[in-house]
Amino acid sequence: MAERIRLAMAGCGGMAGAHLSGYQDIKKRGLDFFDIVSVCDPVLERAEGFAKRIAEFQPDRKVTLYASLDEMLDEEDLHCVDTSSPHHLHHVIACACMEAGVDVMVEKPLGVTIRAARKMIETAGRTGQILATAEQVRRWIGPRVVQWAVANEAMSGRSRMFFAQSSRGPEGMPVEAEEKNKVWRHEKLKGGGGAVIDGMVHYADFLIYCYGEPETVSATCGQLNRSYTLDENGQRQPMDWPETLISHIRFKSGVAGTWTWTGAAPGKAISFTIHYGDLGSVYAEGNYPMKPEFHQRDKTCISHEELLEQYLASLSEEKLAALFPPELYPEPRELTGDHGVPLEVYDFLCAVRDRRRPELDGMDGLIAQALSEACLESSELGRSVSYDEVLSGEVRAYQHEIDEAYGL
Ligand SMILES: NC(=O)c1ccc[n+]([C@@H]2O[C@H](COP(=O)([O-])OP(=O)(O)OC[C@H]3O[C@@H](n4cnc5c(N)ncnc54)[C@H](O)[C@@H]3O)[C@@H](O)[C@H]2O)c1
Repeated sequence: MAERIRLAMAGCGGMAGAHLSGYQDIKKRGLDFFDIVSVCDPVLERAEGFAKRIAEFQPDRKVTLYASLDEMLDEEDLHCVDTSSPHHLHHVIACACMEAGVDVMVEKPLGVTIRAARKMIETAGRTGQILATAEQVRRWIGPRVVQWAVANEAMSGRSRMFFAQSSRGPEGMPVEAEEKNKVWRHEKLKGGGGAVIDGMVHYADFLIYCYGEPETVSATCGQLNRSYTLDENGQRQPMDWPETLISHIRFKSGVAGTWTWTGAAPGKAISFTIHYGDLGSVYAEGNYPMKPEFHQRDKTCISHEELLEQYLASLSEEKLAALFPPELYPEPRELTGDHGVPLEVYDFLCAVRDRRRPELDGMDGLIAQALSEACLESSELGRSVSYDEVLSGEVRAYQHEIDEAYGL
């Protein structure tokens, strides 16, 4: 595409602000092949705040503000939209964009349910528009190193099992109940399944990145903090917002592991991931494996720095440039902090410009989402579920109510 890319942003909330910083980063590095032409949010002050930020790094092109997506799609001649809206609007916004001939990148989880996600994928297939899933975690260099080490039989041998644990909080609250300001993500019909489908879908994507498609899932999801909100009469209303996941997952490759993620663990917080193979283990502390190291059978340890060097040396020039475009990040060794979001928005812009597939398209988004949904479905049904019966939409006991609410 020879023209400058005309991009709009739909939803100007918290995560969209990180995307905006990503676009700013790209321009700051002299990669000036796109314009943010409009922003849209029903809360106009948020759109105004974005317009002010954009004016600072894009002084030559004024941004038009909209409170309605439909009006923006009618008025503007757009190539693409980057949307970070509440989950229950992902399919509404993405399908409207694609029907209007506009490519779209949607924040994770792809849809509020499997049916919502499938509707988006069907629309992308029919219209020929690009549907990208915004997923930054696997794009960080630490998770890239882990995936390489797990897949590298010369280093790890054959994969055996994994354990992923993130337990933290809560702090400063009565033990019996936690009061929360009710926001959309705390409502089942808008959030789709609490933290299990919100933050945890990042990790679902990462596990699938390492091990391929899951086979069976057995999980317990719950609201252990007993959080509540106050209704208009000041009465406590319980929140239907699982913040805890305890799961056992078996992958089609035969690898099995446990994945636990909770914000309801008072006292001692602990977070780590470890992936065992015949020849050793890749270990990292933290919710996400940002600084992995490799422990060999003889108990010697390949430090994070050395592992990173080995990883970078293993990449062909072409692969290195695809994962860490040198025009954006000339020195991958120095990557710290959030390079995932700039990489993801840059990948989207390049996919739109070059008419190519983004690294994570709609199907990738659905595949990751289906693991989170499988955890919710297993917990709802009180039995182990097969990943395929959830991915296909055959099992949707938990999601049924949400599908009904949106006519899906
Ligand atoms: N990748 C990450 O690490 C990450 C982190 C946080 C959130 N997210 C994702 O980003 C999305 C938004 O989450 P958030 O935390 O920014 O929420 P938020 O509530 O801060 O922002 C959502 C914004 O969407 C706007 N909005 C509502 N209806 C709209 C419509 N019809 N058209 C356009 N805009 C509309 C809201 O007014 C609000 O400004 C979610 O999908 C969430 O999963 C991703």
